[in-house]
Amino acid sequence: MTEDIVRLYAQKAGAQYGSEAVSQLEHALQCAGLALAEGADGELVAAAFLHDIGHLVAPRAHEVDNDIDDVHQYIALPFLKGTFGAAVLEPIKLHVDAKRYLCRTEPAYWASLSPASQHSLVLQGGVHTPEQAAAFLQQPYAADAVRLRRWDDLAKVPGAATPDLGDIASILADAADRHRPVIAGV
Ligand SMILES: [Fe+2]
Repeated sequence: MTEDIVRLYAQKAGAQYGSEAVSQLEHALQCAGLALAEGADGELVAAAFLHDIGHLVAPRAHEVDNDIDDVHQYIALPFLKGTFGAAVLEPIKLHVDAKRYLCRTEPAYWASLSPASQHSLVLQGGVHTPEQAAAFLQQPYAADAVRLRRWDDLAKVPGAATPDLGDIASILADAADRHRPVIAGV
């Protein structure tokens, strides 16, 4: 299954990432590279690489800068849940809410976002209210989602060095192997 995911990225992710200056594949590899540089575990590196897979599998793939919220953080989940566990899935699911949370809790954060990301924030529900921010933090993996979100925001640099797709493929396979005994109930 992870081989299919890697093939999907190799074949489809060369397209530009919405109105960002990098491709989907560059964005995913940069995000995973930032996670590796911070010493994140394999599950969170996998989540960093896969967080926008919803853009690749969604019918409206790549249209992140139009006026419809493509809910890509949820579209990703059915494709991944048979292969990975909560430590991969939950940060992906929460990475949009993490942006809404950071806009509430860090006054300078909104201004640091790319124009496309500022635009999609409105479509995604806007800045968290204080109550929403508090509720967000209560969720398991919220802290991982915030870490992922910061890498996501930084992973838009044209020409930045990244890990090889082959290295990421190994990390994905290892994360899937660790999840497999859970599925099998052993
Ligand atoms: Fe992203």
